Amino acid sequence: MIFLDMNILIIGSGGREHTLSWKIKQSRHCDQLFILPGNAGTTKLGENVNLNPNDFEKVKDLVIEKNIGLVVVGPEEPLVNGIVDFFESQSELKNVKIFGPSKEGAQLEGSKDFSKDFMFRNKIPCANSKTFNSENIEEGFSFLEEISPPYVLKADGLAAGKGVIILDNIKEAKRELNEMLINKKFGEASRSVLIEEFLDGIEVSIFFITDGKGYVLLPEAKDYKRIGDGDKGPNTGGMGAVSPVDFVDEEFMKKVKKNIVERTINGISSEKINYKGFVFAGLMNVNGEPYVIEYNVRMGDPETQAVIPRLKNDLAEIILMCLDGDLGKVSTKFNKGYSTTVILASNGYPENYNKGKKISNIYDDKNSLVFHAGTKFEGEDIISDGGRVLACTGFGSSLSEAIENSYRKVDEILWTDKYFRKDIGKDLI
Ligand code: AMP
Ligand code: GLY
Repeated sequence: MIFLDMNILIIGSGGREHTLSWKIKQSRHCDQLFILPGNAGTTKLGENVNLNPNDFEKVKDLVIEKNIGLVVVGPEEPLVNGIVDFFESQSELKNVKIFGPSKEGAQLEGSKDFSKDFMFRNKIPCANSKTFNSENIEEGFSFLEEISPPYVLKADGLAAGKGVIILDNIKEAKRELNEMLINKKFGEASRSVLIEEFLDGIEVSIFFITDGKGYVLLPEAKDYKRIGDGDKGPNTGGMGAVSPVDFVDEEFMKKVKKNIVERTINGISSEKINYKGFVFAGLMNVNGEPYVIEYNVRMGDPETQAVIPRLKNDLAEIILMCLDGDLGKVSTKFNKGYSTTVILASNGYPENYNKGKKISNIYDDKNSLVFHAGTKFEGEDIISDGGRVLACTGFGSSLSEAIENSYRKVDEILWTDKYFRKDIGKDLI
């Protein structure tokens, strides 16, 4: 397959998008790179364009103006809003390729009810669940009486990673169900709520790229979701990641491929869902058996910052092959060592925090990379501009070496408002 050099647009502004930009900029098919809206880190790789990614008409104008040949969508929101369907419906964009699932495919993340039905139909191992709304809330209360704790309550729609609540006490579970369904705790996202069986095990995230027929598996990762050391405190977008994960052995991966990856792709294909993009499945390993906790229709953040630097292939080429339906011809290679990512957040995140603090001494070296998330330029200075601000990825032939390289970067970066977890990866040594 021959691909001409092209201008490429990455949509998003987080550490995931800085990493995708860093990788795609190295592609032999990439001419100019644009990032919408990007961050201070992505300005080194291409041109940031300050537009709202959900304003599809404006994105279209940009794509035409900058002669963009490929669009890679980082976050879920534009996908759930149908950016891929929009692009495919515009005759002026018929020569522009866009990587990501259709609006229907994005429902695998956008609606937990849709995604559960998909798993049930396609016999993909997952927790049993039932979905309730304000009209049958009484049945929801009775269902809680029938099952045993812990009670897992999930808002159906996108709730910025906050829509899952796990409770031991039945009274609290009923109160929470009421909060979600009647008092609209998560707005529209909790118009329906799933009550789900609790899965007791160890979590791991898997990633693959699919064209709806074939797939390319990326390395697995473990994510550290809570704000505090020892997995204490509130949930965040993710405070660190490790790849590979040693408890994921060959036997477990065989089950993952057969029962999860292949059944997911068979489902996408037999249900005629237009899906060319990343799939990120959050799994629970329950006594050696993999179960899907959730699908995401994008890469993980910060998992991308640990996983993508391990990929030796040209990522833009894999994406272009995928969009041509030729993913079956791709064979991938990964660095054998470990990579670990430690997130630097603003003090106070995920609750109240300040922005606008100066950050300095941010450098890559041969054993580590620093990816930006919530950063921007103020004159010549880089300042913090969000909750999760930087990601320090370290590499090593052992996990401890990778961890050491991550934390060396963490210490070098000068920023008075810096918060980070001190235990990333250390539970796995
Ligand atoms: P989600 O937003 O679906 O990834 O859920 C957030 C977190 O809640 C997951 O990472 C798990 O730690 C936990 N969780 C979700 N569903 C279950 C379940 N059925 N059993 C146990 N833990 C769960
Ligand atoms: N780190 C979890 C996520 O990206 O959803």
